[in-house]
Order: sequence, then structure tokens, then C-alpha cells
Amino acid sequence: MPGRVNLAVFISGGGTNLQSLIDAANEGRLSAKIVLVVSSRSDAFGLERAKRDDIDTFVFKSRNYPTEADASKHLMDLLDEYGIEFIALAGYLKMIPPAIVKKYKNRIANIHPALLPKHGGKGMYGHFVHEAVLASGDTESGATVHLVDEVYDHGKILMQEKVPIIHGDTAETLAERVLRIEHKIYPLALESLIKGILNNG
Ligand code: GRF
Repeated sequence: MPGRVNLAVFISGGGTNLQSLIDAANEGRLSAKIVLVVSSRSDAFGLERAKRDDIDTFVFKSRNYPTEADASKHLMDLLDEYGIEFIALAGYLKMIPPAIVKKYKNRIANIHPALLPKHGGKGMYGHFVHEAVLASGDTESGATVHLVDEVYDHGKILMQEKVPIIHGDTAETLAERVLRIEHKIYPLALESLIKGILNNG
């Protein structure tokens, strides 16, 4: 299909956000072809989702390389080989090598399960985020799609949507409510990022 960019999705876990991007691409709601899924874990269920859709996968563990620079170079070469133009982080728990962040400036997005700039940063992932939100006494939470820079959960916010916190919520019930919003806004935010860059360079 013309006008589609080559997208890599990075995961570490179940990959429900990956699935929402696969579905959006297949249904023509995302002007991207997902050509590669990179996982930091070999047992991530998201790898099965990719294989089901005939998407190539790669398990990337920087500790398997002699140096961080070797790891970064190998990943960069792989992205080049696949002609990757945009990267979507979807539950990826590792830092992206700085050389890749630099090369893909404004072309890497992440989704975070809270309303950044609150409740982000190193160590703020999974249930830790929702526990922090509940402990803070906030009356609402939500999901944020943002650009990735060298600092965890720090880049420009592209899209946010709120959900209420309901009396009696646990980290699990809140996570479920937020996840439904994530699946809705990630394809929308990525599509507008891709369209914006394609139209304005
Ligand atoms: C999501 O809550 C996402 O916001 C966060 O990690 C979780 C990944 O879930 N970054 P899944 O693997 O997409 O199901």
C-alpha cells in the first residue's frame, strides 16, 4: 500500500498495545507497515502476536554483547536493514540506546499508563504506576503518548486521555480502565505523528 511507513514496535510483555497497532495497520487506520517487533524478553507473549501476523521478531538483550556500543550498533544495523522509519515503544522496559534516539529524533513514540508529567520516570512501570496514582489521592488518571528523548517519560506529549478513579479501585482495576484508553489513543497519536512528519518533513 503506498504512503505507508515502515514501523518497528518494541515490547517487553503481553503486547496488547502491539495488538492494537497491528489491528489499526491491518484495518487501514494506521499508515504504517509493522515490519519488525523487537523484544527485550524472549518469553514476551507479544512475540506470539507478531508471529501470528507474519511480522519478523528480534530479541534484543544488550548484555549479550561485549559492550553497550556493540549492542547499539547491532540494533541500529538491524533497523537500517528493515528500512525502519518510525519506532513505537509499547511496554518496552529498557532504555533505547542514545544513538538510536538521536537518529530517530521525533520519530519514536512511547505510551505511558498515567497522565505525564505526573507518575513517570525510572521505575514507574506496570503496577508501580497505578499504585503511585492511587496513593497520590488523584481523582483521575489516564494514558499519555509522547515522543521519546534521552530521559525516561520526558519527551513532548502527543496525546492524552483521562479516566476517572473510582472508589475502591485497585492497581488492577485502574490498569484495566487505562489500558482500554491506551488501545484507543496509541494508533490515533501515531497516525497523526506519521502524517505530520510526512507532510512537513
Ligand atoms: C502498558 O500499560 C503501557 O502503557 C506500558 O506498559 C504496558 C504494556 O502493556 N508502557 P502491553 O504489553 O501493551 O499489554
